[in-house]
Amino acid sequence: MAEKTLATENEHARRVREMFAGIAGRYDLLNHILSGNVDRRWRRMVANKLRASLAGDGALALDVACGTGDLSLVLAEETRASVVGIDFCRPMLDIAAEKARSRNLRVPFIEGDALQLPFVDSTFDAVSIAFGLRNVANVETGLRELLRILKPGGRAAVLEFSRPTVPGFRQLFQIYFTRVLPRIGGIVSGSRGAYEYLPDSVSRFPDQERLSSLMRAVGFEEVEHRNLTLGVAALHTGRRTVKG
Ligand SMILES: C[S@@+](CC[C@H](N)C(=O)[O-])C[C@H]1O[C@@H](n2cnc3c(N)ncnc32)[C@H](O)[C@@H]1O
Repeated sequence: MAEKTLATENEHARRVREMFAGIAGRYDLLNHILSGNVDRRWRRMVANKLRASLAGDGALALDVACGTGDLSLVLAEETRASVVGIDFCRPMLDIAAEKARSRNLRVPFIEGDALQLPFVDSTFDAVSIAFGLRNVANVETGLRELLRILKPGGRAAVLEFSRPTVPGFRQLFQIYFTRVLPRIGGIVSGSRGAYEYLPDSVSRFPDQERLSSLMRAVGFEEVEHRNLTLGVAALHTGRRTVKG
C-alpha cells in the first residue's frame, strides 16, 4: 500500500514537472496578464510578513517551489537575507537564474524536491512557498518539510489561491477561473491543459480554515492568515516553536 502511494506521488510529480517545463517560457507573462498584475503585490506582501524574521545579520531564507524566481528575487531585494530558491523544474529555474543575473542579484537557484528538501534541520530563518503547495503530491509532507528546515522561532509564509469570501464575487470569479482563464492561458501558452489544471488543483486544495488547521496539526504555532483580493488568494503564516 505504501509503495502504491509512493508510485502515485512520483507519477503526480512527474506530470507536474513536465507541465511546468512546457509552459516555462510563457509562465511570467501569463501570471501578470491573468492576475491583472496583482500577483506582484501579493509577493511583496510575503516579503513584508517575513521581513522581521530576516532582520538579523546573516539571515537565510528559502523560497520553495520558486519557479521563475519572482518571490525569491523580491525577498532578496526587500529584506536583508541571503535567499536560496529551490524547484524541481529545470526550465523554470533557468529563467529564474537569468532574471537574477540581469538584476545583479546573487540568488542561487537549485534543483530539488519540496517533499525532500536537501537541507539539514533548522537551517533557515524564514521559508516561503508561493503557488507551490497546491502542486505537491502531499500537502502535509510539504508543510512538515517547511517546518523541519526552519530554525526554532523561524517563520513560514504560504501564498496560495484560496476560496473567495464574498458571495456573488465568488461565483463571478469561479466563472473567470474555470472558463475564461483556461482559454486565455491555452492560447498564450499553447497548453490549455495546464490552465485547466490550475482551477482543478485549487478546487482540491484546502480552503483558508483547513489550511490553518493543517499547519497547526503538523506543528506550526502562531498560525494566521490574511485574505488577498477578497480571498482569491490567502497568505498563511506560521512559526516554528522557539523551544525547538
Ligand atoms: C505555479 S508555480 C509557482 C512558482 C513561483 N513560486 C511563483 O510564485 O510564481 C509552481 C512551481 O512549483 C514547482 N513544484 C511543484 N511541485 C514541486 C515539488 N515537489 N518540488 C519542487 N518544486 C515543485 C513547479 O515546478 C513550479 O515551478
